Amino acid sequence: MDEIIFRNKNVPDSQNIEVYSGRGGYSALKKALSQAPDDIITMVERSGLRGRGGAGFPAGAKWRLLTKYRVKTVYLICNADEGEPGTFKDRYVMEFDPHLLLEGMTIAAYATSSHHGFIYIRGEYDWIAKLLVKAIEDAYAKGFIGSNIMGTDYSFYIDVFRGAGSYVCGEETGLIESLEGKAGRPRLKPPFPAAYGLYGEPTVIHNVSTLSYIPFIVQNGAAAYKAIGERMSGGTALFSISGHVNKPGLYEYPMGTSLRDLIYEAAGGIRGGRGLKAVIPGGLSSPVLRSNEIDVKMDYQLLNAAGTMFGSGGIIVLDEDTSIPGIALKAARFFAHESCGQCTPCREGTNMIRHLMERIMTGEGTPQNIEQMLRLCRHIRGSTICAFGVAATLPVEVMIRKFRSEFDAMLPGRPV
Ligand SMILES: Cc1cc2nc3c(=O)[nH]c(=O)nc-3n(C[C@H](O)[C@H](O)[C@H](O)COP(=O)(O)O)c2cc1C
Repeated sequence: MDEIIFRNKNVPDSQNIEVYSGRGGYSALKKALSQAPDDIITMVERSGLRGRGGAGFPAGAKWRLLTKYRVKTVYLICNADEGEPGTFKDRYVMEFDPHLLLEGMTIAAYATSSHHGFIYIRGEYDWIAKLLVKAIEDAYAKGFIGSNIMGTDYSFYIDVFRGAGSYVCGEETGLIESLEGKAGRPRLKPPFPAAYGLYGEPTVIHNVSTLSYIPFIVQNGAAAYKAIGERMSGGTALFSISGHVNKPGLYEYPMGTSLRDLIYEAAGGIRGGRGLKAVIPGGLSSPVLRSNEIDVKMDYQLLNAAGTMFGSGGIIVLDEDTSIPGIALKAARFFAHESCGQCTPCREGTNMIRHLMERIMTGEGTPQNIEQMLRLCRHIRGSTICAFGVAATLPVEVMIRKFRSEFDAMLPGRPV
């Protein structure tokens, strides 16, 4: 099995800087510092590494956008908000291999001429925030970050910033607003953060896992990374598998592994020998797949072609006894609660969807209510500043479309 992020898994005391560097850690940084920043960007472009935060944007292309700002102040932000329900991969890296992240951040910063980085971590991960601060202090003491890193004239400083528990603060511009001390309300784009980010300066922002692949790519080369996965994506991915499986947990598998293999081989199949009803493949905001749609390979394009998305790699498995309207209600409540309220269609619409779902679930719904929900889902999409509008509506709409009979069965006069 090819393991990149898990290479220090089960190593005792893996958070310790001596243990990390003793196993070859920080040698990729040393190698990077001996090369021109542009060469590192080319390497990351060739690796095919794509962002693991949800959108899957090619990392190298993002870095390339920054090169025209080398004379300006450039900020690097690590998105550790990890708010997508069903996702618990970033916490593994930060908790058990924090130096992998710090090394990846420092290389990314060097390549993009950034001298100041931030880790924006979800408030609930308070113990991990403390762990990161300790790791940063240790790395400063060893000269792996801070002034004149490893005796070069390159300096990079990292701060940890704790969020306050808002899902929208995982959206990159909402995160930047929050980091600036304001309410975490996403900005209209363009301009994108690469041109106008933190404090109005060019900013590169990446998910924890994306940055954690960088040391491997620099150490082993773009081809070695690309050779692991399938198709255009390359490398491995961390899959958080939860729900009705025998072995829920975090798994690292090559990109392009089939969803069926992840459920039945990695996660040991469905609990209690029951049948499978549906799978949410990329965190709650990705559209659900039926049990007969799980032969899809976990790849950005193939999942899109199957009408869903790779998202955060958070796979939620639902057995045959699961009520899909029940899941839709949970989703509707979550998104109504998390809407930042900035855009009227989202603020009002997500609450309406929640209200209609509650009516249906308590047996007070009408067939019109289901049609109203479908209309609201369509109208919210495309009329909001950020992609929260899509995240909040597409999953509910697809649940209704694919499992309509279960919603109809909740209406008065119908057998439940
Ligand atoms: C509503 C919403 C929530 C998001 N939450 C997260 C999150 O918790 N963590 C994350 O890394 N990206 C999240 N994203 C994606 C970020 O906006 C951004 O695409 C990502 O940080 C870029 O990093 P990457 O290129 O490494 O994927 C979210 C996006 C949206 C629209």
